[in-house]
Amino acid sequence: MKDKTAYCCSGCGGVFPKWSGQCPDCGDWNSLGETAAVTKTMKNTRFSGYAGAVPTPQVFALSDIEPSLKQGVSTGISELDRVLGGGLVTGSVILIGGDPGIGKSTLLTQAMAKFSGQLPTLYISGEESPEQISMRARRLGLPCDGLRLLSETCVETILKQAAIERPSVMVIDSIQTVYTEMLQSAPGSVAQVRESTAQLVRFAKQMGTAIFLVGHVTKEGTLAGPRVLEHMVDTVLYFEGEQGSQFRLIRTIKNRFGAVNELGVFAMTDKGLREVSNPSAIFLSRHQKEVPGSAILVTREGSRPLMVEVQSLVDESHLGNPRRVTLGMEQNRLNMLLAVLHRHGGIGMFDQDVYVNVVGGVRITETAADLPVLMAVLSSYRDRPLPHDLAMFGEVGLAGEIRPVPSGQERLQEAAKHGFKRVILPRANAPKRNIDGVEVTAVDRLSDALDAI
Ligand code: TYD
Ligand code: MG
Repeated sequence: MKDKTAYCCSGCGGVFPKWSGQCPDCGDWNSLGETAAVTKTMKNTRFSGYAGAVPTPQVFALSDIEPSLKQGVSTGISELDRVLGGGLVTGSVILIGGDPGIGKSTLLTQAMAKFSGQLPTLYISGEESPEQISMRARRLGLPCDGLRLLSETCVETILKQAAIERPSVMVIDSIQTVYTEMLQSAPGSVAQVRESTAQLVRFAKQMGTAIFLVGHVTKEGTLAGPRVLEHMVDTVLYFEGEQGSQFRLIRTIKNRFGAVNELGVFAMTDKGLREVSNPSAIFLSRHQKEVPGSAILVTREGSRPLMVEVQSLVDESHLGNPRRVTLGMEQNRLNMLLAVLHRHGGIGMFDQDVYVNVVGGVRITETAADLPVLMAVLSSYRDRPLPHDLAMFGEVGLAGEIRPVPSGQERLQEAAKHGFKRVILPRANAPKRNIDGVEVTAVDRLSDALDAI
């Protein structure tokens, strides 16, 4: 019998029989950690995804398979349903990541309390004692007669108990506190987190239990481990938002059962997390007066349009290499947009520092922000405010053209709903029929947009 341990690189995931100071694959220093070696018998159970895997593999026709997974059981919290892709799927494993103190335990306690009325539930906490959890639930006024608690960190014991309790929904708070007896390394290490998760995933698939895994984000902004968890689970949700602000956003990073980039919006109150059903309102900081450097954009997060304010500050630079600072969007994108503005708009910013911020801690991941970002930059540069009833969206191409973005009509309606009277949009997104009270300016090229304001 060979050694049961192997060494796994936390950077690239490579597995080696011997420890060394530098990973032979990716060259990272000091990244090898202990892990369980994959023996022949384990291979079957681990990689089939289902324990006690079929001895002779069977090939199916797609049409012969009757889905046994139940789609979309509502969590009772509609913003959470939205990011899950319509509700909770039986047997799915969901990873919820976020900074400490952002509200992961609060959200899951609330969701589990709602579930406990109709389904068997089990809340496993390695961080808080049952008293602490019960105190919180009581303070939030949650009905929790059916909610079962377990304070345990050994995954083998957890699964033994879970097999007796047979919950439909289970929470592991948090995955970093859980360890498996198979390994000697400390809880929270990459190997421990990965092995424990693998066992939990197997359990979920076998028993049809939906499992929420809470994961802390490290200082570098990733979940402990080289994102090893992300491809083991079905759904990955991340809490976003600033600690100081009351609002909490949950974004879908990966979802095997629904769309990604869905955004759920919550507000942290003294009664726990409250859903925000009209999020556009909170991201618009309506200034008393029109201010230079501010533009309103209609973005789309998952399936919902959202009005967001982009702010920019352009200031004379005393550096050889002027600053380009972005918060809430990609910096390369800003560099590119400034190049397009110079080349096709004739306005150079090579002696200016440019700062761009998306208000409310929102992160823009789509190209519809291009035009509004340029307009905000220009507005600050010229020190001339944009009209306060103007909203816009559109992608800017390298040839100086304004390219269409998906769901133009929906975005236009969202702007109209929030009382915007003027909208600048790509020509290809121009509506066939006019919307009452909204003056639509369709533009083809950057120069048209510059003329329009
Ligand atoms: P928590 O859910 O414990 O965070 P996590 O599990 O992500 O680490 O949330 C803790 C924070 O939320 C804490 O700073 C206090 C705040 N909070 C409220 O403001 N109101 C409440 O009703 C609750 C329960 C927490
Ligand atoms: Mg917690």
